[in-house]
Amino acid sequence: MRTDAATPVRLEDYRPTDYLIDTVSLDVRLHATATVVRAELGIRPNPAGVAGAALRLDGDELELLSITLDGLPLAPTAYEISATGLTVLSPPQRPFRLTMETRINPTANTKLMGLYRSSGVYCTQCEAEGFRRITYFLDRPDVMAVYTTRIEADAAEAPVLLGNGDPVESGTLPNGRHFAVWRDPHPKPCYLFALVGGKLGRIGGEFTTMSGRKVELGIYVEPGKEARAGYALDALIRSMRWDETAFGCEYDLDVFNIVAVSDFNMGAMENKGLNIFNDKYVLASPETATDADYAAIEAIIAHEYFHNWTGNRITCRDWFQLCLKEGLTVFRDQEFSSDERSRPVKRIADVRTLRAQQFAEDSGPLAHPVRPSAYREINNFYTATVYEKGAEVIRMLKALLGATTFKAGMDLYLQRCDGAAATIEDFLACFAQASGRDLSQFSLWYRQAGTPSVAVRTAYDAAARTLRLDFAQSTPPTPGQNDKEPVVIPIRLGVVSPQGEVSPLRTVTGETLDDGLFVLERTADSLTLADIPPHSVPSLLRGFSAPVRLEQELQPEDLLTLFSRDADPFNRWQAAQRYAMRLMVRAVEALRSQSAPVFDVAFAQALGELLLGVDDHAFAAQVMALPSEADVARELGRDIDPDAVLHARKALRAFVGSQIGDTLAATYERLANKGPYSPDAASAGRRALRNATLDLLAAGDPARGIPLAQAQFAAADNMTDQIGALAILAQHPGDAREDALEAFGARFAGDPLVLDKWFGLQAAIPEAATLDRVRRLMSHPAFSLANPNRARALVGAFAMANMSQFHRADGAGYAFLADIVLQLDGANPQLAARLLGAFRTWRSLEHTRRAKAETELRRIAARPDLSPDVSDIVTRSLA
Ligand code: PHE
Ligand code: ZN
Repeated sequence: MRTDAATPVRLEDYRPTDYLIDTVSLDVRLHATATVVRAELGIRPNPAGVAGAALRLDGDELELLSITLDGLPLAPTAYEISATGLTVLSPPQRPFRLTMETRINPTANTKLMGLYRSSGVYCTQCEAEGFRRITYFLDRPDVMAVYTTRIEADAAEAPVLLGNGDPVESGTLPNGRHFAVWRDPHPKPCYLFALVGGKLGRIGGEFTTMSGRKVELGIYVEPGKEARAGYALDALIRSMRWDETAFGCEYDLDVFNIVAVSDFNMGAMENKGLNIFNDKYVLASPETATDADYAAIEAIIAHEYFHNWTGNRITCRDWFQLCLKEGLTVFRDQEFSSDERSRPVKRIADVRTLRAQQFAEDSGPLAHPVRPSAYREINNFYTATVYEKGAEVIRMLKALLGATTFKAGMDLYLQRCDGAAATIEDFLACFAQASGRDLSQFSLWYRQAGTPSVAVRTAYDAAARTLRLDFAQSTPPTPGQNDKEPVVIPIRLGVVSPQGEVSPLRTVTGETLDDGLFVLERTADSLTLADIPPHSVPSLLRGFSAPVRLEQELQPEDLLTLFSRDADPFNRWQAAQRYAMRLMVRAVEALRSQSAPVFDVAFAQALGELLLGVDDHAFAAQVMALPSEADVARELGRDIDPDAVLHARKALRAFVGSQIGDTLAATYERLANKGPYSPDAASAGRRALRNATLDLLAAGDPARGIPLAQAQFAAADNMTDQIGALAILAQHPGDAREDALEAFGARFAGDPLVLDKWFGLQAAIPEAATLDRVRRLMSHPAFSLANPNRARALVGAFAMANMSQFHRADGAGYAFLADIVLQLDGANPQLAARLLGAFRTWRSLEHTRRAKAETELRRIAARPDLSPDVSDIVTRSLA
């Protein structure tokens, strides 16, 4: 455990290391409780560092067995060891070899950082600071070395031995042991180091790169599950091809391996040539994985593969630059999925996630810039802001520069920074050069936290046929940043007239708006458009061209116009969401003053009409999924009563379901499955819409919907239909629900990844009895708090996907989560800190709940010996 948790690391304090490590030769003798690592480091003084300085290496939970310098034992007076590292007091001022042997216990490693065991498989996780749990090292990304790894293990316990790079040698040894040697010729930071040893099944493939290199592909999974890795392999091959075409990025080794493990803190990891995945993002079969699972596997396989250039070839100078690799790589994987599937639907889904995760983060105590300037625990900065907002910033850059110039900037970056540990400044300099533009104001997006608001006022002059748009931007204060400057906001817009799209858009001064793009740079600015027919509606922020909140007064009839006629599918969807939001917000107000909510028939009818003429099923499914409870809470912003939000949303869904019940039922019938399951986007869209219609139908008329859901549950030949039906049944108390839950639990008792869905569904039931149900499920034989997937599926879903029950008025939900966080903190601080993040909106609740949440946060804060991870989150949450 780090003892310096209270002292933040600051970006402004960055300085290069005093020594460089050019070569690393590791010899790892795997043993369940006593693995011995021999590390031979080729070190030299860094010309950019302080001459004669001591050499301070990071270390964590290591036992040093021996240490030599250029082959000679180092005198005990020549070095010092502490809980956080090893210091060689006066190292030679010339290149030298430092050789250390350390002993570690992978079985005792419950933090899942460094070398650990997952279901008996040895594996590693080094990002961000896990390599120091394997050997003493300069554990920071600007120290790049060439690695050779020799792995030795019991041949029966670990027949498969994998490392970074290409295999160079392997063989058998006495006493039933064997070894393999891997060499990675590309210099890399230690966070990209990996090794794996265990009994694993494999499926293989081959890829020929654009310049003709033959690459052997392997995906390793739990033996017996090989067939479930086929989709991941297919996604990998498509990713490799796409990166060549879209970005000119070619793979650079002869082997590319992926290993799926069942205990993993995150989604997956881009170790050079040896990606390690949470098995949830590799394994899929029609009977066990939903369409959403298939899409997530495709996206994450692509994401990790794309890191080979944006992350590995070009890495980060320090952890403040995390968005350099993550924001850019998320942008790249989003583009990939958009090309492989439906671009508008992907955009809608991504914006949903952005608002749910990043906007929520940005408006609470954990808000931070895309590039933070200080941290106390880097693990807590793998956030929606760094990843998702980081991707939005890249998307805006592309919108502002245009596709061609953006491509030129990317090409320059990939060429100029190849092999370097780079910064955001290095990245932006490439785009400034390619475009000849000054990007200094744009760079505020990296430094300034908070979600900007753009308020728009419109004025139509019927005589002059001009439409004036007045824009004003402001960004609310966030922790440590009270005063905000105006940012560069690309606003893509159009005008929908009764005759259709107004095109091209011209200003009164005679300029045409290229691409319909208006760039708001100042605090306030305006735009007057010429030749606008009466009764036109401006369609603003098309495609969600900037990660901002748009405040635009639109009347119900304007929303209906946009919903039915906007040329931009994103804004069609947005119009329906806005309309629903308006109705729900009014319903919340009604419920809180003890009156009955009233809804518009016109809204329900508009949804019904969409269904009658529907061609894009996936798009329609996104429309039918009305804003979530959390969406409504964010819209309200303060004094939130989660019960009122729940009931307002329920009431609107019931209203729509009963108003257009016949259309829903007819659509449901029309979209029935024909032929065997296929995970392709079109089939997935059809299933999504079919489930969405049934869901609304059951909300409006349970007597009609429940039997259909029961029938679908019983007959389903794929997980999407089965869990879709079960999710609907779970919303309606009674035998139908309990019977189906029991049947599902029994059927998938041996399949933990499927049981996770079952845990999650139950944890999300918005009823008072759910907390007890969750407690009961914690003693289910398949549940284990130590496994991150299980913990997130049950506890995480309760805290993050069940607003009314986590935020119970009696505070029992808060107390439950606090107990779990404290219980977990010793074993797996990263996971504990993630779960604790559920408190991030606590200040926006009504006062009774707010007080109860604060009590629990204070109880956690008062506990001695908190991990830096939990301590950091709890401190910031209370600040
Ligand atoms: N770098 C991983 C990614 O692709 C995420 C990760 C971070 C995984 C830290 C493990 C540990 O986004
Ligand atoms: Zn990543």
